[in-house]
Amino acid sequence: MIYTRILIGLIAILVTIATIVFIGINEPDRQDEFKGAFLGRSIEVGAGVFEQYCSPCHGLKGQGSPRAPQINSKEFFENRLRDLGYAGTMEAYLTLTIRGGRPVKSDPKWPQNMPTWSVDFGGPLRNDQIGNVVDFIMSWEKDAPSVGTEPAAITAVGDTPEERGRSLVEVGAGCIACHTIGGTGGSVGPNLTNVYAEKGPDYIRESILMPSAVIAEGFSDGIMPQTFGQTLTEENINDIIAYLKSVSGQ
Ligand code: HEC
Ligand code: HEC
Repeated sequence: MIYTRILIGLIAILVTIATIVFIGINEPDRQDEFKGAFLGRSIEVGAGVFEQYCSPCHGLKGQGSPRAPQINSKEFFENRLRDLGYAGTMEAYLTLTIRGGRPVKSDPKWPQNMPTWSVDFGGPLRNDQIGNVVDFIMSWEKDAPSVGTEPAAITAVGDTPEERGRSLVEVGAGCIACHTIGGTGGSVGPNLTNVYAEKGPDYIRESILMPSAVIAEGFSDGIMPQTFGQTLTEENINDIIAYLKSVSGQ
């Protein structure tokens, strides 16, 4: 009887030890899983921020446009830091560049500067959101395409002025990255849904051609690209105005 109890006791102790050892062995995996899930969530949040704030200039996948360089290529991930003589990591380079922007253009071909994004310097993004964007950009590294994908020129698609205007505002010129129009878009610039009814076509034209002529109340100068006058044709601007007229008052 007593031996049976001792035996049962021993078995119970052994099972407990085995369980503890098993959990111990698997703990690093669980931590990795947790880290993986955490990074996944950050990338997802970063994708949303990138689409809203960065894609009008850099393209939805970082492929570049006439307004900003490609930042998703093999060349970028492999050689950019070496070319610049920057000794830190890619994450650090991205974080610094995005937080502070580029007060001075590194290449005069860009129509406007890379804006400042961190709240620390008067930009619209919190530093944790910038961390999310950096995780999103880093997630492109393993499948980074080679350079050579020509940046898309500003094109308008559609049969009517309103349709072409909409395609310019949403895709070609990327106005909705910064402006909400008819319920969708960003909040870096003022909501433009009713701008036609409230301020009229001449004001819109002037705001596109000379963004710094009048600064909308509560918003900063220097964020709206200054070069739509060179990149958009007269017809493009008329189409955008026609589209803004059609959504106005909705
Ligand atoms: C108004 C257009 C515009 C927007 C919006 C914009 N950028 Fe840029 N970005 C630029 C330009 C122009 C450059 C090149 C600046 C230079 O080198 O003079 C640049 C450069 C960069 C670089 C450095 C590229 C390199 O080759 O070293 C990174 C990284 C970057 N941008 C990330 C972002 C992120 C992330 C966002 C969104 C939070 C963003 N950009 C939004 C215009 C823009
Ligand atoms: C990178 C962000 C950004 C992009 C892209 C952008 N804007 Fe702006 N826009 C702003 C900001 C910020 C302001 C407010 C400051 C100012 O008035 O210059 C503004 C102001 C305006 C105003 C004046 C609004 C008012 O109520 O006074 C109009 C109109 C306008 N933008 C139209 C456009 C159009 C059309 C496009 C696309 C062709 C465009 N914007 C693209 C950031 C942007």
